[in-house]
Amino acid sequence: MAREWNAVAYEGLSSPQTRWGAVFLDRLELGGDEDAIDAGCGTGKVTALLLEKLPRGTVLAVDGSRAMVEAAGERFAGEPRVRVEHQDLLELTVEEPVDLVFSTATFHWIGDHRRLFDRLAGVLKPGGRLAAQCGGEGNISRATRATREVMGRDRFRGYFEGWDDDKNYAGAGETKERLEAAGFEGVETWLHEELTGFGSVGELTRFLAAVVLGGHLERLPEEEREPFAAAVAGEIVAEDGETLLDYVRLNMMATRSGRTG
Ligand SMILES: C[S@@+](CC[C@H](N)C(=O)[O-])C[C@H]1O[C@@H](n2cnc3c(N)ncnc32)[C@H](O)[C@@H]1O
Repeated sequence: MAREWNAVAYEGLSSPQTRWGAVFLDRLELGGDEDAIDAGCGTGKVTALLLEKLPRGTVLAVDGSRAMVEAAGERFAGEPRVRVEHQDLLELTVEEPVDLVFSTATFHWIGDHRRLFDRLAGVLKPGGRLAAQCGGEGNISRATRATREVMGRDRFRGYFEGWDDDKNYAGAGETKERLEAAGFEGVETWLHEELTGFGSVGELTRFLAAVVLGGHLERLPEEEREPFAAAVAGEIVAEDGETLLDYVRLNMMATRSGRTG
């Protein structure tokens, strides 16, 4: 099962993810009556934007973190068109196949994209669509370099022995091939850059701790978590004085083959 997240911190710090999700959603042409899944819904901020585009549709919001599911459940309490479920996307099951699988900022947390895409094809109706955006090849390379440097320091090295980072920043070409192998057609995949600035080193540190370094911080004792995130932020800024993360997003649009009629 996917790891736990700090839902309160993510809700407060995820405005970049919400902004990218809103722009990506704007590209999508929807009839408004689709039954959709938001795969990796987090606290539900982007799910709410998706719901606005589906005035006669429904959303099954799925996440592998119980804290995220609880937060999304509170957000949509009393909204009959949204159901929130705790599920691992690699084991995703639904009562009825859906018209749309939508997902933002989630797939790079999942190592096995072949298995993921097989599962997503399995929950879509023939002719149903996948529209997803996640971290792609080259994503936050400044932070990745800085994190590796800090992991190797004497103070932290012992906590990371035998463990490596868990992100999967896939390229556009290999993703297209994997989607086609999973039974998707009309596949479009592309990368785009989203250079993201932070107001101060403190803000960057809080963002890294809540959004980027969760897997690392889990391995550290409580008292070492903030110093680790602060050291990574310091190392990023030391490079050129900029409080920037060089985000790269991988976009994918595809249709499940086997349309009937
Ligand atoms: C960065 S958040 C994105 C949340 C939201 N979609 C957004 O754009 O703000 C990534 C989410 O993916 C979820 N996630 C990661 N791996 C997962 C898996 N295997 N199954 C279900 N959820 C997963 C995490 O629990 C987390 O809530």
